[in-house]
Amino acid sequence: MKSVAIVLAAGQGKRMGMDCPKQYLLLNGKPVIYYSLKAFEESDIDEIILVVGEGEKEYCEQEIINRYQFKKVMQIVSGGSERYHSVYNGLQVVQNAEYVFIHDGARPFLSKQLIEDLFETVRETKACIAGMPVKDTIKLINQKKQVEKSLDRSKVWQIQTPQVFEYQLVKQAYDKLFEQKISDVTDDAMVVERMTGHAVTLVKASYKNIKITTPEDLEIGECFLANEKTKNDK
Ligand code: CTP
Ligand code: MG
Repeated sequence: MKSVAIVLAAGQGKRMGMDCPKQYLLLNGKPVIYYSLKAFEESDIDEIILVVGEGEKEYCEQEIINRYQFKKVMQIVSGGSERYHSVYNGLQVVQNAEYVFIHDGARPFLSKQLIEDLFETVRETKACIAGMPVKDTIKLINQKKQVEKSLDRSKVWQIQTPQVFEYQLVKQAYDKLFEQKISDVTDDAMVVERMTGHAVTLVKASYKNIKITTPEDLEIGECFLANEKTKNDK
């Protein structure tokens, strides 16, 4: 049975504040989205579904898929107004897959090792997500910006993507979400937790698996790539 990666690239990148959506900005001369497509291309994933914004299909086909000769991108579909709409559009076109990896196209530094670790865990648990323990102390605050509660740092993780599920489980969860018109969800694990009650397991990823969100993330990303290049040149 095959496994599919849904790579999300239909956001507008408002927090980046540039004219071009952040997934198409250049990192060491290549678009941000190139790096995650490349990681999946070189993995055991069978097919990639790319989800893009209105009017971006042609650009992606020519300037990304053809240009970098990605062979596993089988479909490009349009996204929706919120991330969960884009995920759902991707899930609708998946055919005969056992596992689905849902990944932010704005997260260029996913590693081979992480994809392998997630594969291993999803086979056992049906639902797993990449994440890392937080480094800072996290506090809940009220509307007056007063601290209500300090969370036990050893139990708090920041969640990344890929988020990986047995296809039937995540499709069923998203169908239910849309049937019930629920909209306050920010990641896929939340949809599975709330709509099915199935436990979601964390897989320790890497602090390098950052999401490019604001301009300083681009600078950090450039540093990661420059360091890799130095290592490879040695
Ligand atoms: N995404 C998507 N469809 C949307 C919104 C987001 O496919 N309607 C994708 C983005 O392209 C990104 C990932 O989901 O790869 C994570 O979202 P986020 O970092 O919030 O990206 P944007 O929504 O583009 O950024 P912002 O929230 O700053 O506008
Ligand atoms: Mg967003």
